[in-house]
Amino acid sequence: MSSSPIETVIVDGLALANEIRDDLAQRIKAHREAGRRAPCLAVVLVGDDPASASYIKGKQRACARIGMDSVEHRHPASTGEKELLDLVDGRNRDPGIDGILVQLPLPEGVRANAVTEALSPEKDVDGLSPVNQGRLLLGEPSHRACTPLGVMKILERYAIPLEGARAVVIGRSALVGKPVSLLLQQANATVTMCHSRTADLPGTCREADVLVAAVGVPRLVQRDWVKPGAAVIDVGVSQVEGKLVGDVDTEGMQGVARIVTPHRRGVGPMTVTMLLSNTLDAYEAHLGE
Ligand code: GUN
Repeated sequence: MSSSPIETVIVDGLALANEIRDDLAQRIKAHREAGRRAPCLAVVLVGDDPASASYIKGKQRACARIGMDSVEHRHPASTGEKELLDLVDGRNRDPGIDGILVQLPLPEGVRANAVTEALSPEKDVDGLSPVNQGRLLLGEPSHRACTPLGVMKILERYAIPLEGARAVVIGRSALVGKPVSLLLQQANATVTMCHSRTADLPGTCREADVLVAAVGVPRLVQRDWVKPGAAVIDVGVSQVEGKLVGDVDTEGMQGVARIVTPHRRGVGPMTVTMLLSNTLDAYEAHLGE
C-alpha cells in the first residue's frame, strides 16, 4: 500500500502577522480612547549597515501602522561603548519609553553583551538581556526573544503537534538557536541542538518532526535531510549574488515537508510582530505600575 503524497503548505507568515497586528491595533485604540498616551518604542541603530537600517525602518513602519510611537536614535559606527550605555540608561529612565530595541550586530569595539545587559528587563522587548534569557531558561515569565516567539506562533497556528515530538534546531545563537530550543522544550518537544561540529547533521535532521534552521548557510537543508511530514522553519537569511536566500532549499521541500516557511513573508514578519506585541505588553505593565 502506498502512502498518499504530502501536500506541502507554504506558511504565510505575513497573513498571520497581519492578523496579530490587527489585534494589537485594537488594543492600542482602546487605550487611546480611554485617554492614554500611545505606547512608544525606542530604536537604536549604531553604524551604517544597510541591512540593519532597512530592518529598523521596517520595524518603525510597523509601529506606526498599529498606532504605536517610535523614536529613533542613530549613531555613527565610531560611537563608543560608554556613550551607548549612557543612551540605554537614559531610555531606561525615560517614563515615555516602554520598550528599547538595540539593533544587532553592533560595530567592533562595542560589546553587544554589555549593551543588552544594560537594558532594563522590563523595557528589553527584544528579550535579549541576561535577565530575560535567564527567566526563559527557568521557565519564568519574561519578554521572549522575537524570532523564537514568532516561530512558536507559526507552529501553533499551523497546528503542528509539539508534545512528544522530535525537534532539531540548527544553530546555537543567543538570538535564535538557544531561545527557540528552550521554547520547544517547554512545549514538551524533545530537542536536539545542532551546530558546526555536529556529526552527521543530515542524519540528525532526518529524525526531526520539527526542523528549525537558523545558521545563515544558504540552502543548507536539502530535501533528503527532511523526514516526510516534518514542519520546516527557515530562519536563515543570506545574500547570494544580490538575492536573499534562506537556510532551506524551499523548492526541494515540496511533497516532503508538511509545512515550510518561505524566506520572504515567512518568519520575518512574525519577528517584527512579536516586537510590537512585547512592546504593547511592556506598555500595559508600565501603566499598571
Ligand atoms: N538583528 C537581527 N535580528 C535581530 C533581532 O531580532 N533583534 C535585534 N536587536 N537585532 C537583530
